[in-house]
Order: sequence, then C-alpha cells, then structure tokens
Amino acid sequence: MMEMIPVNEPLLGQRELEYVTECIKTGWISSAGKFITDFEEAWASYCGMKYGIAVCNGTVALQVAVGCLDLKPGDEVILPTFTIISCALAVIYNGATPVLVDSDPRTWCMDVSQIKSKISPKTRAIIPVHIYGHPVDMDPILELAEKHKLVVIEDAAEVHGAEYLSGRNGPNPIWRRCGSLGHLSAFSFYANKLITTGEGGMVLTNDPTIAETARDLRNLCFRSDRRFYHTKFGHNFRITNVQAALGLAQIERIETIVAHKRWIGKSYTERLGKIPYLQLPVEEPWAKQVYWMYGVILKDSTGMDAQEFARRLQQRGVQTRPFFLGMHEQPVLLARGLFTGETYPVAERIAQKGLYLPSGLTLDEKQIDQVYNAIKQVLA
Ligand SMILES: Cc1ncc(COP(=O)(O)O)c(C=O)c1O
Repeated sequence: MMEMIPVNEPLLGQRELEYVTECIKTGWISSAGKFITDFEEAWASYCGMKYGIAVCNGTVALQVAVGCLDLKPGDEVILPTFTIISCALAVIYNGATPVLVDSDPRTWCMDVSQIKSKISPKTRAIIPVHIYGHPVDMDPILELAEKHKLVVIEDAAEVHGAEYLSGRNGPNPIWRRCGSLGHLSAFSFYANKLITTGEGGMVLTNDPTIAETARDLRNLCFRSDRRFYHTKFGHNFRITNVQAALGLAQIERIETIVAHKRWIGKSYTERLGKIPYLQLPVEEPWAKQVYWMYGVILKDSTGMDAQEFARRLQQRGVQTRPFFLGMHEQPVLLARGLFTGETYPVAERIAQKGLYLPSGLTLDEKQIDQVYNAIKQVLA
C-alpha cells in the first residue's frame, strides 16, 4: 500500500499536553481562565499590536473586525476576489457591500495598483488578504487609506510570523510583522495554520476603543454595568481556555515553526525550480514569507488544469488542495446581485491552474523528494 502524504498534519507537543492537562485538572475549560488572556497578550505582543481579542475561528474574527466599523447599508469595503468567502461574508453580514480587485500575478495577493480606481465616496475600508504565506504590498494601501480616511483590516489568517518591509521608499524602512500593519487584523488558528488552537481566531488592534467593541461583540454585548441588559446586538464568538492553552504552547516555539515552514518552502523551490512547467511562489525583496501552503501554478504549455493535475498526484500518493475560486465566480454571491459581469483574469487563471502541495509542519525531506518525483512523473 502506498502511503499518502497529507496536505497538512498539525504538530503538537509536550507543552500543549501540559497546558491542556492543566485546564482539565483545574476545571477551567470554558471561556474564562488565564490561558485566554495569556494567549491574547502573547500573540498581540509577538505581532507588535497592543490588544488581542481571541474568538472561536478566523471567519468570525473578520466579522468582528468589520463589525467594529459600524458600517451602514451602502457602505463599501474593497477586498481581493481571490480569497476565502469569509472575507466577503464579514462585509455582507455587517450590512455593507464588497468591492473586488484582481490578484497580482506574482504574489497572488491583491493587485494594489487596482485599488485606487475602486475607491468611491461610499468606501469605508480595505481588507488586504496575505495569501498562502506571502505579505500584501501594504505601503500603497496604507497611503490610500490615509488619503481617503479608510480603515485597513488585514486578513492575516495565513501569515503567522511573516514580515513586511514598511516604508521601503523612504528614509527609515523597517521590518514589521503582518498583522501589525493595518488598523485591525484578523488571524485564524485552524488546524492547518502555523499556530493552531484546533478552531480559533483573533482580532488585533492598537486602539483601546476598538478592542473594547470587539470584546463586546464577542460576548453578546453584555454590559458591564448591568448583566442581561443589552443596548447592542452581539454574538457568542468566545474561545475556550483549552483552545487558548494549545495556542499559547505553540507561540512559545513560533520561531522554530516559522523556520521549518521556510525550510519547506525553500526545499520545494530548490527542486521544483528545475521543472519548466510550473510557476512557483515568490518572495519579494520587501517580504519575508512563511510558505503557509506551498502553491504551484501550471503553465499553459502543460495543457492541463489543476483538477487533472491533482488527480494524477493523488494516484501517486500526494494529497493537494485547489486554489481559491474568486468571489466573483461564487454562485451564492452572484445570486445576491453582486459582481454581475465582472471579470478578473489573473484570479480566474490561477484558480483554474493552481493548487497547493503538502506543506504541514510534519513534512520531512524524504516526503518533499517524493512529492517532487511525483510531479516530475506527471509533467514528464
Ligand atoms: C485568508 C483566510 N481568511 C480567513 C480564514 C477563515 O479562518 P477559519 O477557517 O478559522 O474560519 C481562512 C481560513 O483558512 C483564510 O485562509
């Protein structure tokens, strides 16, 4: 029997076991307990933000982040079409309208040169989504945001530990962590992320008022002066102490985790660079990317699409996942009258020709060689 190389496997250790055991032994298993605040503080501080508000997944982290803006019907939020539906839902559930831009063909993140033409008097925010481990080029976005008084919410679900060279065209360029560049950021800690709590997410911000609003929205907007008395709608998006315990244990070894991901990325690039039929992930000079998932795009010369490529790799013991499908190609959004007739050629091409390879933290050199050999065979 051929052993399948999974696209991801979480790597949990002794420390996770210790902290989770502590929750069970002490009975602190719900949404109170010291691991939650420790986890929030540790992650905010690692990223370089003041406040962390942990929630039960990355999707609702986005929903809470957008919820802090108090949007009105008709308000617009600009985001890339090439992303997960969570981003569009966060905007729609908050009563506003998502407006799309295409992808940069090199980094697969939003093409920042297209944002300006999408800004209207109704625009309130921009959601840059750092894709598959590579940062978005944030400087031009922050400049536009300042000029037009827009809020920037980074979707940092896929870039734990990635860095961006801020101000590279000015006198004092400085490397900053993704998740600390916008006014708010949202992380996911799903099991395939660099830091995982099983399911989990977090909103980061430097603004104490936003942090308080996010905490309220997470917890049903209970008022501190009178419990069970409500003046705003909220949600139960709480995380448990047990989940936070898992996350805290991993933050303690984040440097090792990031280093291993970067090693996986570089090992793939070394090998796959010899195959002329693939476009590989880049690392722009202003970015330190973390190869959350190692994506590849089939060049047209292969005459193959990602679905067929995935099928043939699966036959050779290599599990893969397809790339995102653009928001403008989602029937559920088109049915609401959104994005009618819009086309985004880069996102359409990479959605059709792209997939990602096994990239989990348990991946070793032998498995990377196996993946490489399978790809060589399929593309021979
Ligand atoms: C870019 C991006 N944003 C948001 C999310 C949503 O996170 P979650 O799965 O924790 O809800 C994901 C999930 O993978 C993601 O990739």
